Amino acid sequence: MKFVIASSVQLMGRTVTKSVEPKLGVSILQHAIAHNVDWQHMCTRGTCARCRCIIEEGAEHLEEPTKAEHARLDPEEIEEGYRLGCQAIVKSSGQITARNKTYF
Ligand code: FES
Repeated sequence: MKFVIASSVQLMGRTVTKSVEPKLGVSILQHAIAHNVDWQHMCTRGTCARCRCIIEEGAEHLEEPTKAEHARLDPEEIEEGYRLGCQAIVKSSGQITARNKTYF
């Protein structure tokens, strides 16, 4: 039997995937760290891009990209749905799917 969660953040790290409860005002990276998902990161302030991810679902539940993201990501990447996990803040409940996709 499949259990359906109406509002969750699905986090896909390097080897770990988890669906967790969304916490408003908290970044995708903070969700991943709190739930032991192996999400790459270093600076946590929008410069290293290790935490880069693609939002496969639910971008509307995140705050708009920050200045740091506009500085670090190409406009095409932002258009395709890439975000920096440490900058992407959950603003509303719903289904969000984020996959950590670093450059290297
Ligand atoms: S952890 Fe460095 S940009 Fe997010």
